Amino acid sequence: MKYSISPEGKRFPLPRPEDYAAEEKRIARLVEEKRKQGFEIVVVMGLGFVGAVMAAVVADSVDRKTGRPRKFVIGKQRPSDRSGWKIPYLNRGLSPVQAEDPEVARIIHRTVKQKKTLVATFTDDAIRHADVIIVDIQCDYLKESLGDLSTGTVEMRDLEESFHIIGRYLQPRALCLIETTVAPGTTERVAYPILKQAFARRGIKASPLLAHSYERVMPGRNYVASIRDFWRVCAGVDAESRRRVGKFLREVIHTGQYPLTVLDRPVESETAKIVENSFRAAILAFMDEWSRFAEEAGVDLVKVIEAIKVRPTHSNIMFPGPGVGGYCLPKDGALGMWAYRRLFHGRESLFKFTPLAINVNDTRGLHTARLAAEALAEMKRKVKGARVLLLGCSYREEVGDTRYAGSELIVRMLTEQGAKVSVHDPYVERWWEFERQGDYPHQTHSLARFFKNQGKLKKLKVSRDLKASLSGQDAVIFAVRHRQYLKLKPEAVVKRAGKPLAVVDAFALLDDAKIRRYLELGCAVRGMGRGQIGRLQQELQSARRHSRKRS
Ligand SMILES: NC(=O)c1ccc[n+]([C@@H]2O[C@H](COP(=O)([O-])OP(=O)(O)OC[C@H]3O[C@@H](n4cnc5c(N)ncnc54)[C@H](O)[C@@H]3O)[C@@H](O)[C@H]2O)c1
Repeated sequence: MKYSISPEGKRFPLPRPEDYAAEEKRIARLVEEKRKQGFEIVVVMGLGFVGAVMAAVVADSVDRKTGRPRKFVIGKQRPSDRSGWKIPYLNRGLSPVQAEDPEVARIIHRTVKQKKTLVATFTDDAIRHADVIIVDIQCDYLKESLGDLSTGTVEMRDLEESFHIIGRYLQPRALCLIETTVAPGTTERVAYPILKQAFARRGIKASPLLAHSYERVMPGRNYVASIRDFWRVCAGVDAESRRRVGKFLREVIHTGQYPLTVLDRPVESETAKIVENSFRAAILAFMDEWSRFAEEAGVDLVKVIEAIKVRPTHSNIMFPGPGVGGYCLPKDGALGMWAYRRLFHGRESLFKFTPLAINVNDTRGLHTARLAAEALAEMKRKVKGARVLLLGCSYREEVGDTRYAGSELIVRMLTEQGAKVSVHDPYVERWWEFERQGDYPHQTHSLARFFKNQGKLKKLKVSRDLKASLSGQDAVIFAVRHRQYLKLKPEAVVKRAGKPLAVVDAFALLDDAKIRRYLELGCAVRGMGRGQIGRLQQELQSARRHSRKRS
């Protein structure tokens, strides 16, 4: 018997070959029942951060005229050892993703347990029942070097395999909607030919109905709303696919308030997603050099950004943090570059800004590690042997997703230098990038391969006990803007640590009052883009000199 282990360590048996027939029957029975009640059948392929919540949003949707649910959703998840646990989890009405938005747990529980409009399965056979199938599986970009995107490649295997599976079961009148962020051209040049060939093999004369509409989901406080109450872009391979995707999205997304943009061709929808995310990656990368400038010039980048943001034309200027993580921004631009060469046979070296931005973002965490070393040196401590606590390992505030988080690089660099790093995060249960650094996020592509002394990091555990985590630390690095860390008082941190310590603010969590207080308490403080710290320190020293003179 093989098992899949959930993030909190529960073992779920994976299906055996003899389990498939019974599961197919179970799904067929449910479908028959729901069809009799007038339900449309929607299959969501891939129950990850996007698919699990999208499946629930569709299952929660109601007919605008009658107010009653009309979509029965089958979440189809691959029963892999890494993700197979999501199937029994969802079937118990539990969310397989962790987020601060309480609506995530509620909508999944409601649709599975009360409305009974959502189930999960491992069998591909479920696809044969679909009126609509939504593809929400991953499509990775595998980087071969650290800080050099140019040598990587798109991992197309899982996506192509999924299109082959869909082609085997899809009904001729069913719509296949790709939500996965793909290299532009994938829908028409990869998926469409695979589906057409599969239809030809099955003797189906009709052309497959195929569309693309990308997700703009933001896991976090408004997770569900960022799917359901948000603007969408879509396109179909032909007029009927376009009509069908528009109709479907209008039924499940609140397009009345958030109008749908229908583009002419899927390659335009695919490109829109890539440009949208490359644009954001570029703004953040652009701020990296100004952040370093700020540190040298005694400037607080946070105040500079706030001053600029007042101008409506510049309101989306952002503070970059210790790197730019998440599943999308570190890879999406690369999907576009790959498409240019591999799907459109481009020969020029066209892309300059996009790879530069991602390369800069991918290595920004190394600077945080340098600042930690500087602050430790000021406290007369070497990095080697120092106890360093990292506060936050998810890629952004109030989420449990660690993919490509800037924190990973900080841990790896400091560990290479001999620090004893421990980690706290209120949302993350397991940091798979370390626990399974042999095969995560991909069998051959752990960032471990770019650093020395990484072996012991397999034992790295993420603590949820902040007080205990702080005890006895020589340094603390604020890496994620979780609300819990914004509330932390300097006195409490120093008291818990048991002594003054090195403090690194990597994501603008500390205001001047807190920085001053840490300094008063005898801590060495550094901050990414926080050049005013040196000035605050001088002010404090001269105030101390004055008071000594007076006394
Ligand atoms: N996570 C985000 O915030 C976000 C935001 C916008 C867009 N996207 C895009 O959405 C897509 C999905 O991202 P995600 O974060 O949900 O990824 P994920 O890795 O969390 O989920 C993908 C899921 O698909 C499953 N899967 C793979 N092949 C399968 C198959 N053949 N059958 C059934 N299940 C299969 C995997 O096991 C996994 O559970 C990606 O293209 C991503 O770029 C993600």
